[in-house]
Amino acid sequence: MASPKVVLAYSGGLDTSVAIPWLKEKKGLDVVAVTVDVGQPVDLDRVRAKALASGAVAAYVADARREFADSFLAPALRANALYEGVYPLSTALARPLIGRHMVEVARREGASAVAHGCTGKGNDQVRFDLSTTSLAPDLAVIAPAREWGMTREEEIHYAREHGIPVDATKASPYSTDENLWGRSVECGILEDPAVEPPEEAYGWTVSPIAAPDVPASVTVDFAQGLPIAVDGSALPFHEIVLRMNRLAGAHGVGRIDHVESRVVGIKSREVYECPAAIALIRAHQALESLVLPRDVLDFKRSVEQRYAQLIYDGLWFTPLRTALEGFVAATQARIDGSVTLKLYKGSATVTARSSPHSLYQAALATYSTGDRFRQEMAEGFIYVWGLPARTWAAQQPTATAPAPSAVPTAPAPQPVADRP
Ligand code: ARG
Repeated sequence: MASPKVVLAYSGGLDTSVAIPWLKEKKGLDVVAVTVDVGQPVDLDRVRAKALASGAVAAYVADARREFADSFLAPALRANALYEGVYPLSTALARPLIGRHMVEVARREGASAVAHGCTGKGNDQVRFDLSTTSLAPDLAVIAPAREWGMTREEEIHYAREHGIPVDATKASPYSTDENLWGRSVECGILEDPAVEPPEEAYGWTVSPIAAPDVPASVTVDFAQGLPIAVDGSALPFHEIVLRMNRLAGAHGVGRIDHVESRVVGIKSREVYECPAAIALIRAHQALESLVLPRDVLDFKRSVEQRYAQLIYDGLWFTPLRTALEGFVAATQARIDGSVTLKLYKGSATVTARSSPHSLYQAALATYSTGDRFRQEMAEGFIYVWGLPARTWAAQQPTATAPAPSAVPTAPAPQPVADRP
């Protein structure tokens, strides 16, 4: 009789390769490998071949770049999602997508469990486990690296013993994760948050110091809160992301050095490169400032913060995410227009914006001829607006008496008085 099957999220790296014979040996499971292309720079044919060479009974590869952009990055951009105000959640956003693909393959293959290569210290285990539990509560989740307690050297030894090809040239001190929305880097010297990240830790961006001395301008057109064109060329969203990564990365835009609060309570130092995410979020925010009223902008910021946190926390497949996205979607109907960014030595600065739905009215804002704002009305407005503050102050008469030095020498303007 055939062994039960487990569907493993397979990257082609050492951990997930070692997991294949380990799952067979320790759990008696046949491994079906699944590799989801979310824009990481790997040769998928080689990854597939390596899964089979490592003992997988089947190996699936899915190109999910478009799905990733349209179903995960698009809502994140509309929500300006930045965890702790700085991290665009590139790694975090890919996990529920990979989780969904694993569950789909598990159903097709009749597997009883899914597995991933995450350790017990990070966020990604939380995201994979919760995605699985939400979509397929009956499937078990196995995380070999949480159980096996092997050092990297022991893993290499285990791999050699089991005939798994070990790429000895990949002796980078860093652990990285890449997709369309960014590159995450950790480990090595980065574990000391008091030390500046060395230049070699970066892979997508040039150093702002070495970036061109001449700034570049790029104009992004938006429709309903999503980019539809770059410098006049209409492109699908995932291609806009790729192009912005190249353009902004060449000017050193998108480097993030963050001591972040992990779900499991650990503070960790993470370095990210997210050129497109940073540039597009900044452009999107600029368009929202032009089109949305103050109260909507203000309330949306609190929704954005909650939304970013739930993505970080692995709660993608939950009703809170759907509900917050409903609010965000309702704010995006008029987010149409163009934003120009200047890319220069690590910064992406908005220099121009326009929209057919702009709330900016020159006749109200101008200090020159053509002013239609009725300034004389402001006094009455401020009388009413200031009533609570005045009432409050009247309860503390001593606190409001002017200090001698503060007594004006010129006649003071008459305060607006309440009727006797
Ligand atoms: N800390 C980040 C997150 O939780 C990214 C971790 C990615 N993994 C890596 N090997 N750098 O989303």
